[in-house]
Amino acid sequence: MGGMDDRRQRRIADWDRRAGTYDARTSWLERRVLAASREWIATRAAGETIEVAVGTGLNLPHLAREGDAVRLRGVDWSSAMLDRARSRALALGIDAELVVADAGTLPFEDRSADTVVCTFALCEVEDVRAGLVEMLRVLRPGGRLLLADHVVSTSLPLRLMQRAAELVSVPRHGEHFTRRPLTVLADLAVDLVEVERGRLGIIERVHARRRQDAA
Ligand SMILES: C[S@@+](CC[C@H](N)C(=O)[O-])C[C@H]1O[C@@H](n2cnc3c(N)ncnc32)[C@H](O)[C@@H]1O
Repeated sequence: MGGMDDRRQRRIADWDRRAGTYDARTSWLERRVLAASREWIATRAAGETIEVAVGTGLNLPHLAREGDAVRLRGVDWSSAMLDRARSRALALGIDAELVVADAGTLPFEDRSADTVVCTFALCEVEDVRAGLVEMLRVLRPGGRLLLADHVVSTSLPLRLMQRAAELVSVPRHGEHFTRRPLTVLADLAVDLVEVERGRLGIIERVHARRRQDAA
């Protein structure tokens, strides 16, 4: 347990350190690749929305365009990342409740959200299944689960490169390139509404609904 806590603390400190330069470092990727998935997600979000692992709040400008249709709560385990998200929310005039918390223990009531959003973070949440189960706990039956992430590629050469990259990225940052949350959702209480997987299969977007009869 101590080892896990130490690793967790190191990873949070790592994100705290990277927070100041995160937006600048990812701006090229943001414009070229990530923004389209954020827009895809924002246009499907509605009502009481919880975002898991908000980061610096790069989904906020997209969610803000939905106007009053989205009321936002969110978590991230890095207070420095969350500070940036709070400034972004303020600048956008969004009244978001953003709190420091782990994706594995969301500080929200069961079935309290109409929508749960998580983008580009399940690649590094320690236990993907536990993270998804927790998202479904806070989602009301019939509510929308909206995910976007980089996943294992459909191209063999790229898959080999992803595996090689993980040899460094997993021990250093806890970042995985060969995951695919969709496969984990298969045995959870959701119905798939839409799945879109980009060219070479590296980016996948998922829109699922929590089953009405889920416990
Ligand atoms: C690559 S960034 C993505 C941020 C944001 N979701 C986005 O789409 O820009 C990953 C974020 O996940 C957060 N994170 C990673 N593991 C987490 C966990 N177990 N609980 C809460 N936040 C976590 C990190 O602090 C970081 O802000």
